[in-house]
Amino acid sequence: MKTNVLYCGDAAEIMARLPAESIDLIIADPPYNLGKKYGNNRDLRTWEEYEAFTRNWLSEAKRILKPTGSLYVFMGFRFIARLYTLLEDEFGLFFNGWITWHYTQGMGRKNGFSPRHEDILYFTKSENFIFNLDAVRVPQKYYRERNNMIGANPGDVWQFSHVHYCSAERTLHPTQKPEALMERMILASSNPAGVVLDPFVGSGTTCKVARVLNRQWMGIDLNPDYIQMSQERIETATPELDSYDPRMMRTPRDLPNPPKDLDDLERDRERLESLSKEQGILFNG
Ligand SMILES: C[S@@+](CC[C@H](N)C(=O)[O-])C[C@H]1O[C@@H](n2cnc3c(N)ncnc32)[C@H](O)[C@@H]1O
Repeated sequence: MKTNVLYCGDAAEIMARLPAESIDLIIADPPYNLGKKYGNNRDLRTWEEYEAFTRNWLSEAKRILKPTGSLYVFMGFRFIARLYTLLEDEFGLFFNGWITWHYTQGMGRKNGFSPRHEDILYFTKSENFIFNLDAVRVPQKYYRERNNMIGANPGDVWQFSHVHYCSAERTLHPTQKPEALMERMILASSNPAGVVLDPFVGSGTTCKVARVLNRQWMGIDLNPDYIQMSQERIETATPELDSYDPRMMRTPRDLPNPPKDLDDLERDRERLESLSKEQGILFNG
């Protein structure tokens, strides 16, 4: 099977040509059937038609996943309940998480609560699946000796900003996802050199991240312009992803002899200053 490749065409049709049990991880961000315009395709069908479309590509997805494989599907609230039932009851996949991507900015509603999240259903093909916990730990809020210094276990609410229209990595694709989301799924649910497939690749986010993380990648999209956009993005991929978190550089204070950086020293200074104030001592920092 050829990898590190993009295909222009229908997701289910292209997946039907791939060998059974050949893919470690599928990250699918299909159109949500909310009327978005994706250039050559408009995302608006009856819900029955949309369900048939979903059933079609899911059945290929299940066939090509390895027994240890995982499937993450992004979905909007209008269809997510039906999608859950399809995945669990009809396809017999194993539920492993309902992830909420929470973002803080977006359009405000005047007659209701403004949407600030999207959801991702995470299923595995069997109960014996890849999950690399240490690769996705998140910074501890507090450093204590009893805490795992590599980081805390990540929760199922993931907070990352949208890719802002002013950011350098923003493409012209209308629903480009933050790299940080794909990074977490790829690190957790595939090993280096594993094969990652995105059947609705859009601007190429999944494939770019997979390439940076040394996985084999494959992407499919109906729109040839998006295939070209993805190709360019993957070819020019730099190692830095949009998820860089400066807290990862913090040094746990209660490790034996932690090296001090400038921020540490500044925090020490502020703490001493406020202690001195409390106790009426003149502090000369
Ligand atoms: C929600 S977007 C994916 C965005 C992507 N995750 C990103 O970060 O850029 C869905 C994509 O699916 C594509 N698409 C729609 N119907 C398709 C089909 N039947 N087969 C393959 N791709 C399709 C659209 O052209 C669109 O680019």
